[in-house]
Amino acid sequence: MTLILGLESSCDETAVALVDSERRILAHRVAGQEDEHRPFGGVVPEIAARAHVERLAPLVEAVLGEADLTLADVDAIAATAGPGLIGGVMVGLVTGKALAHAAGKPLIAVNHLEGHALSPRLADASLEFPYLLLLVSGGHCQLLLVRGVGDYRRLATTIDDAAGEAFDKTAKLLGLGYPGGPAVERLAAQGDPHAVALPRPLAGSTEPHFSFAGLKSAVARTAASGAHRTADLAASFQQAVVDCLVDRSRIALATCPEATAFVVAGGVAANGAIRSALTTLAARFDKPFVAPPLWLCTDNGAMIAWAGAERFAAGLTDSLDTAARPRWPLDPEAEAVRGAGVKA
Ligand code: KG4
Ligand code: ZN
Repeated sequence: MTLILGLESSCDETAVALVDSERRILAHRVAGQEDEHRPFGGVVPEIAARAHVERLAPLVEAVLGEADLTLADVDAIAATAGPGLIGGVMVGLVTGKALAHAAGKPLIAVNHLEGHALSPRLADASLEFPYLLLLVSGGHCQLLLVRGVGDYRRLATTIDDAAGEAFDKTAKLLGLGYPGGPAVERLAAQGDPHAVALPRPLAGSTEPHFSFAGLKSAVARTAASGAHRTADLAASFQQAVVDCLVDRSRIALATCPEATAFVVAGGVAANGAIRSALTTLAARFDKPFVAPPLWLCTDNGAMIAWAGAERFAAGLTDSLDTAARPRWPLDPEAEAVRGAGVKA
């Protein structure tokens, strides 16, 4: 049994957790920064980095205290080393290095996307490699064949916005504020998903890539016309995203008979309409559907600690001069997609 302390600070959540190799979550804390960023309608990187500086050390103390443990009891320190907002990533990584150095423990530099990608295995011990993963977060929208720890084949990515970005931009357009995804989902529950005709970008295309920019523009035009109830627009937008995710995932599922399961992870995977549509899709392909509990979908320290536990078990640790990486693709072999911006 090994015990890993995990630190997460790549965006707007400061999070720390203690997780062991038996999948026990001994303690975990997430400190959001909604109040700091709300006046600006989105995450301000400099404000985020400063908030991580203030919160990280007290959170580490609180988590160790709650588990009634000290650093000496921990086997390794895992910290997000990218991708993400570089100021915040540096705060978390340098904190992880300092703790590792002071306690004489190994450091594990975790790719935040690997944290999301392996989080379903923390929640479900029966989930085996390889599995088909739909990774949907604020910065990413990808289909990946997860073949093992550190072994990913990217089947598809977005050629413009990420799914969470589309939710956040739509929330802003509809005056729902920040953070956007949960606000759109709440309002959508009171609307008619078929009230407004919106596009399904790339639907029907034979490659499973994603695109959301055209959908966002259509929402902007419709909102400006004032012809529809905001709840109907939110519901119709959410339905369009659901349809795109289902259509694109269907193509990938058809090309991955070896996948043991169809899995969704990342912040957008907290969306109930998306979870339910993906459940139906998986059943059509006779695959088990696996989605982590809601709190494990959005950014948290437990997924970083767990990715650390999986890497530690595979003998993977990192040196104290490991650099923070603002960009860090899970599949370094993946080719750039035509039309894709820097987010690929
Ligand atoms: O994984 P995450 O917490 O952070 C990143 O790594 O990006 O994902 C955050 C994203 C945001 O865009 C947020 O609006 C979206 O996930 N999100 C949701 C929901 N909860 C969070 N989107 C739709 N419905 C939700 N319930
Ligand atoms: Zn994330």
